[in-house]
Amino acid sequence: MLQPPCDLLLRHGRLLTCNSLIEEVDVAIRAGRFIAVAPTLDLPTDQELDLAGQFVSSPFVESHIHLDSALTAGEPRWNQSGTLFEGIEIWRDRKQHLTLDDVQTRALATLKQQAMQGVLFVRSHADVSEPSLTALRGLLAVREQVKDWMTLQVVAFPQDGIYGNPQNETLLEEALKLGADGVGGIPHYELTREDGVRSVQRVFELAHQYGCFIDLHCDEIDDDQSRFLEVVAACAIRSGLGARVTASHTTAFGSYNNAYAQKLMGFLSRSQINFVSNPLINITLQGRADTYPKRRGITRVKELWQQGLNVSLGHDCIQDPWYSLGTGNMLDVAHMAVHVCQMTGLDEINACYDMVTVNGAKTLNVVHDYGIEVGKPANLIVLEANDRFDSIRRRAPIRYVISQGKVLTGV
Ligand code: FE2
Repeated sequence: MLQPPCDLLLRHGRLLTCNSLIEEVDVAIRAGRFIAVAPTLDLPTDQELDLAGQFVSSPFVESHIHLDSALTAGEPRWNQSGTLFEGIEIWRDRKQHLTLDDVQTRALATLKQQAMQGVLFVRSHADVSEPSLTALRGLLAVREQVKDWMTLQVVAFPQDGIYGNPQNETLLEEALKLGADGVGGIPHYELTREDGVRSVQRVFELAHQYGCFIDLHCDEIDDDQSRFLEVVAACAIRSGLGARVTASHTTAFGSYNNAYAQKLMGFLSRSQINFVSNPLINITLQGRADTYPKRRGITRVKELWQQGLNVSLGHDCIQDPWYSLGTGNMLDVAHMAVHVCQMTGLDEINACYDMVTVNGAKTLNVVHDYGIEVGKPANLIVLEANDRFDSIRRRAPIRYVISQGKVLTGV
């Protein structure tokens, strides 16, 4: 029987198999989905690309970014101390002047920049601490605008704490009613330890009530007494939400004493929550109160990975009050993780690549639509590289980005 032509046939790509071997394959796409992946395909096609042995990968996943503050570095002033807390102060001033157009223009520009670097799945936090909820409304509109080429999740993030101001709790719930995908928190920035615990418990209640996932900024500080991760783990164990829960940053985990860390690790295994580390920003924001020796200020990425927990990596910030650098390139993030987390064994370097691809898909809970397999949406990238190690070492250029079966040449 005569088969209809496929829309796109990719020839001679180097694909990572499920048992971590590299195999040369052809990939056929029709109607936005993979229809065949095999060493040699003989199919009629409308368009053919010879990949000449370049590395074919599932797209990058940005597990943690703030699109509402992206591209605002220096507005209204530069973060001179380089601390998280000066960043929060500067953003508090900048966000008084947000408009929908301002948020949407910057978010869209950032997403385009990310997409052209192979990022097709993004989880963004939206600050819901200002009464108009402009940041959230703007990102929800952008989520709709980009859906044909980018999967965007928006987390309602109470940057100033849920209990820091009387209206913040109401604003957070209002954000969920407006359609945020996830609920966030910042327990270490609540006014007291008790407020922090209460904020985590409230986030779990809201997640249950609105059926959304949880992604908390948790213990993003060098203080070894900041111990909200144990509260998150306890709530996850008791609620059974497990894989629907993400603890972002957890930088204090890098400062805990080993006896406590060891006990905590057992609870984390029971909880099965996800972790997101942001090595570019953690290495620059943390350790600022230290003289010497200076801490690295990053969570225990290697140990969490060795424990079999799901760890993914994020950029966190692109040119905003917390991090004036940043390009959206996930290979920069993985490259920094290799260094800061001392993950230099070959398996460890490859694991850092997984942390910006498949592990991110697990964090975002999009695995059903992620991966180069027959029947799944045709999302892939082609890198000018041989494999995962080579991609990270050279921060290899992206040759093609294919989103939902179409080659992105500009969005
Ligand atoms: Fe963040």
